[in-house]
Amino acid sequence: MIHYDVRRFASVPSTMDICRQLAEQGAPEGVVVVADAQMAGRGRAGRAWYSPPGQAIYLSLLLRPSLTARRLSWLTMIGALAVLDALDALGVPSSRAGLKWANDVLLDGKKVAGILVEAALTADRLDYAVLGVGFNVNTDFGDAPEAVRAQATCVRQAIGCAMDLSNALDLLLAALAKRYAQLPASPLPAYVARLETLGRPVRLRVGDEEVVGVAERVEEDGALVVNTSSGLRRVTFGDLLDRCVHS
Ligand code: BTN
Repeated sequence: MIHYDVRRFASVPSTMDICRQLAEQGAPEGVVVVADAQMAGRGRAGRAWYSPPGQAIYLSLLLRPSLTARRLSWLTMIGALAVLDALDALGVPSSRAGLKWANDVLLDGKKVAGILVEAALTADRLDYAVLGVGFNVNTDFGDAPEAVRAQATCVRQAIGCAMDLSNALDLLLAALAKRYAQLPASPLPAYVARLETLGRPVRLRVGDEEVVGVAERVEEDGALVVNTSSGLRRVTFGDLLDRCVHS
């Protein structure tokens, strides 16, 4: 089981950067950078991550797994599954929580957490990876940008009572350790089992292009295969714009 070395900070630009610096200095796997607030928290595709103080979990975990670059997305899956485990342990009914490809954890259909994995590679092997988790536990979105307010939720809002942040952090770290310990077994089956995206009409932004079709499956490398009017399309990196609900 991974041995954690938790480093706490009041406020940082981004826990990802601190953790990366520690990795570059040779820190071992298991270093966790946790901050009360982030001034420049980031998500995928360079987006900002809303990070007000004392309301949510912002963490970055240094990992040095024996994985090829092709399996990097497994770490995203492990992070997302661990958040689901933590929600479960916090008493959230599993029927209300699920996953949205590629890195979103949903609660009542809204984003409650996001996973960001950044890695350094030597040839085709992972030198290290930083697994970032932003988990909206008690977040007040009153001052958040409209786009965030429209799509995000937190556990407090969904459950109706505030959660103890340090307990939520302990649960999340325990879940991450357990999921990570299952490597080299693939997390894909567990991930797919909770994915709300499959079998549904989807619209994705892939670079400058929009891909429209039905989400068919996720492959071992984390790519989403979409059945479009011009055939099957494999998307390795893209943004799911919306999900159409079946009637
Ligand atoms: C996403 O959904 O796009 C990923 C969001 C990841 C946010 C977390 S918060 C802790 C860590 N530090 C960051 O700057 N980002 C990640």
